[in-house]
Amino acid sequence: MTNLLIPNVLILGGTTEANALAKAIAEQGIAAVYSYAGRVESPRPQPLPVRVGGFGGSEGLAEYIRKYAVTHVVDATHPFAAQMSRNAIEACRTTQTPLAALTRAAWALQPGDTWHHVPDIAAAVDALSGDAQRVFLAVGRMHLEDFAAQPQHHYLLRLVDDPESLPLPNAEVVVARGPFTESEDRALMLRHGTQLVVSKNAGGSGARAKLDVARALGLPVLMIDRPVLPQRTELSSVAQVLDWLSHP
Ligand SMILES: NC(=O)c1ccc[n+]([C@@H]2O[C@H](COP(=O)([O-])OP(=O)(O)OC[C@H]3O[C@@H](n4cnc5c(N)ncnc54)[C@H](OP(=O)(O)O)[C@@H]3O)[C@@H](O)[C@H]2O)c1
Repeated sequence: MTNLLIPNVLILGGTTEANALAKAIAEQGIAAVYSYAGRVESPRPQPLPVRVGGFGGSEGLAEYIRKYAVTHVVDATHPFAAQMSRNAIEACRTTQTPLAALTRAAWALQPGDTWHHVPDIAAAVDALSGDAQRVFLAVGRMHLEDFAAQPQHHYLLRLVDDPESLPLPNAEVVVARGPFTESEDRALMLRHGTQLVVSKNAGGSGARAKLDVARALGLPVLMIDRPVLPQRTELSSVAQVLDWLSHP
């Protein structure tokens, strides 16, 4: 009798790519659980069983993998979810579980772009010292407090949930969930009078419209480069992940 390993996949999600993978995995009838961090009030429903909340560090994740007999972990988190990705590498190493990351290429400079690169959020905050500007701060909710160190600017924030309070004295919040189109972003940025865009280099298509608009309007972008992660298997499409699951 052949000893076939029947996949029981854990998808670390919270991205468009993870959602596409969940759909494909459900269609293939592969057993899998989709994991959300629990950052947004009503996460998108998935065609797979969903669990919500942290695991408790790499040790908690290792425990989860053992408890639920997970055979494969697919890290389809956002490129800036570096802690989760590091925990996945460590937990899969200790439990000897195959791990692949479903990644997207970083955005690359195009002719007409004016990007100032910074290595991380702290450097982006430092780079904002100076005169007041109208800033489209497209970094999500988690790091807004860091930007309280530069309260002189008028910030445009686009967030998934309406925040109860804001650490920035001078800010306008638009509640919306991507993907965003170029015409929407153009209208938003013109209305706000945006002079500078601050963006994480997320890659992918869902959030890139603001960069296309910045190029068209001749606006500078403060581009926060991706965190560097340890070596891991990286796949760039859902088809590659399905192939990896069938030939681990
Ligand atoms: N960072 C972004 O810009 C961004 C943008 C869009 C979507 N997201 C999504 O939002 C989630 C949180 O991102 P983050 O940057 O806050 O992550 P992070 O800083 O790397 O993670 C912090 C902690 O949150 C928990 N966590 C993160 N992702 C999880 C998941 N998919 N399932 C269960 N627990 C998770 C883990 O807690 P424990 O240590 O307790 O396990 C992790 O150590 C991720 O799922 C990511 O894909 C992030």
